[in-house]
Amino acid sequence: MSDSLHTSQSDVWTEWLFHRRHADDPVYHQAVQARVNKYADHVLDAAHLAPSMTLADIGSGEGLVAFRAIERIGPSLKLILTDISAPMLSHAEKSAIQRGVRSQCRFLECPAENLKEIADASVDIITTRAVLAYVQNKTAALCEFHRILKPGGRISIAEPIFQDEAFAARALKHAVDTQTPQTHDRFLILLHRWKASQFPDNEEQMTKNPLTNYSERDLLRFTQNSGFTEIHMELHIDVFPSPIISWITFLNNSPHPWAPSLNSVMGAQFSSEEQQFFEQILRPAIEAPSVTTDRIAYLTAKKPLS
Ligand SMILES: C[S@@+](CC[C@H](N)C(=O)[O-])C[C@H]1O[C@@H](n2cnc3c(N)ncnc32)[C@H](O)[C@@H]1O
Repeated sequence: MSDSLHTSQSDVWTEWLFHRRHADDPVYHQAVQARVNKYADHVLDAAHLAPSMTLADIGSGEGLVAFRAIERIGPSLKLILTDISAPMLSHAEKSAIQRGVRSQCRFLECPAENLKEIADASVDIITTRAVLAYVQNKTAALCEFHRILKPGGRISIAEPIFQDEAFAARALKHAVDTQTPQTHDRFLILLHRWKASQFPDNEEQMTKNPLTNYSERDLLRFTQNSGFTEIHMELHIDVFPSPIISWITFLNNSPHPWAPSLNSVMGAQFSSEEQQFFEQILRPAIEAPSVTTDRIAYLTAKKPLS
């Protein structure tokens, strides 16, 4: 995989990053891109990159962090881009060729938990953004990061914290389960059906799901347990006006690659009458000004010198 990548198929990762994350809405796409650029820049600011370093970007996706790192440091930076998705790596490789930086990049198809093609103590900096959220065993990935880093090397990570979405789904489940004939609320039942298809709505599923099996404090603990020192964690919570104002965009986007869109949930799990009823109530709220919340944990840490 390291020399050349030929696949151009799509998978759940490319389908989401290139289409469903912004529901193919060019205006919303711009808003999403501005936010992820901001996250990537924060990760790079904290990475302390310098000329001639080797940077491994784990779960590199389309190369968002990696290519911004090259823009900052220039041709002396050596990059290792890893991902579990062959189509994603293929896309990133094509971008590297277009940008004239292919010779600086090595592409590896492997999970974050097993970076065996990367030698021990061979990397100066590791970045990763929105990747550990999809990794079941986050400590295993962090131990691999520790193994491939040179002594004194650093990690700079940004991960979304999704537990509140699961708590909200769990609260909806409780409200639905405890309804009485007097308090019966059809909208609540449908709202729960939709939310529970995107996030776990009970403790057992929350623990099993990599998206919700951690808080920012767990990330800090996993990092410490993996042998890192000088750990710094910042939780950024931003509440801001929702950039989605089109009902069609709202229907067709989804909050993460494993989540179905509301459109597909309604198609699969709602009767036509339920679809009409749900839209009648929800649509005005989406088309009116509303707010959305982002929770991102930024973490940096160092591999001890000895
Ligand atoms: C939300 S995207 C983020 C991509 C990129 N880091 C960015 O900032 O745009 C998640 C990426 O993680 C990759 N991924 C998912 N599970 C992974 C794993 N276990 N090991 C490595 N990469 C993984 C996916 O293929 C996808 O490219």
